Amino acid sequence: MASIQIIVGSMLGGTEYVAEACEQTLNDLGHQTTLHFQPQLAQIPTEKQIWLICTSTHGAGDYPDNIKHFVDDLTHSDQDLSTSKFLVIGVGDSSYDTFCLAAKNIEKLIETKSCKKIISLLTLDMQQDIDPEDLAQQWILKHQDLLY
Ligand SMILES: Cc1cc2nc3c(=O)[nH]c(=O)nc-3n(C[C@H](O)[C@H](O)[C@H](O)COP(=O)(O)O)c2cc1C
Repeated sequence: MASIQIIVGSMLGGTEYVAEACEQTLNDLGHQTTLHFQPQLAQIPTEKQIWLICTSTHGAGDYPDNIKHFVDDLTHSDQDLSTSKFLVIGVGDSSYDTFCLAAKNIEKLIETKSCKKIISLLTLDMQQDIDPEDLAQQWILKHQDLLY
């Protein structure tokens, strides 16, 4: 059983549903989870954790407002995440040139903190994907052996 911190970036609420669906699947697999809808770096455990980042993209490839402070703090911190692992789900719209750019950028940022990426980014396209929650849950189930 792993301890999983689910960190959510969302403006309009859609990504929160994806995160909650992931939490349900992770709990069903026996993992302990904490959801962070207003993430603050100082309050998120960093030792021997799995961080699951679920974030949409807004503006022209920007982070959602609720996650901007977290990203800023992480960027400027010398946080060592080498005992932890992470994975990212991006929610976006492929009609934008900056499709899921916030998710792509946060994936790069967390890697600079010596955190091990468990699975490469999952992108969900609101233009095409009819049931993003189900796709996210299937993705977790497919990779469940890597969550430890
Ligand atoms: C003003 C605005 C700007 C957006 N910019 C982007 C973008 O740059 N890249 C992208 O992939 N999606 C973009 N989107 C699409 C959102 O990421 C998409 O609608 C997503 O489902 C919103 O998730 P949320 O409800 O969790 O905020 C934008 C949407 C809006 C309304």
